Amino acid sequence: MAVVEQIFPSLTWRIRHIAMYPEHPYDFVKLENDFDGIHFGIYVDYELSGVVSLFTQGDVGQFRKLAVLPDLQGEGLGKQLMEYLIDFCKIQKLTKLWCNARVNAKEFYVKFGFHETNKTYTADGFDFVVMELNL
Ligand SMILES: CC(C)(COP(=O)(O)OP(=O)(O)OC[C@H]1O[C@@H](n2cnc3c(N)ncnc32)[C@H](O)[C@@H]1OP(=O)(O)O)[C@@H](O)C(=O)NCCC(=O)NCCS
Repeated sequence: MAVVEQIFPSLTWRIRHIAMYPEHPYDFVKLENDFDGIHFGIYVDYELSGVVSLFTQGDVGQFRKLAVLPDLQGEGLGKQLMEYLIDFCKIQKLTKLWCNARVNAKEFYVKFGFHETNKTYTADGFDFVVMELNL
């Protein structure tokens, strides 16, 4: 059984690095405002296996760096993290949640009701599109 919990910011870094930017130096995955965020981890057999980070401004939330360990992708962990995150945002009475989605993952977000905007850009070798969910 997988369990989602709020976690200390620095616990996200190892998973982000392995799942998202393994070819970059470890420090590359640290965000300058990580310590202002709210971070969630999903544990499988007590092992941290996926993470996501939430940053709020007023009643709008941005989530960043959703990442599941490569060996455990495709087993529903990302979905469980997203559902937890969306419920958390609703409980906090946020009205909107958005993210910079990697284009190759955008269909994943559509499954949760996110819609694509016309804001796109390329960074660090990936194409991104801003996706939004009205809560
Ligand atoms: C994207 C990611 C977080 C998804 O997590 P996951 O645990 O592998 O996904 P799940 O197993 O929970 O998948 C849930 C559903 O989304 C689908 N899905 C998963 N990844 C997808 C992708 N990249 N594109 C489209 N659909 C995807 C699954 O097929 C599944 O569909 P179903 O419910 O119809 O069976 C994970 O693959 C990952 O960490 N990837 C590398 C880092 C990354 O790209 N992060 C996102 C940056 S925007």
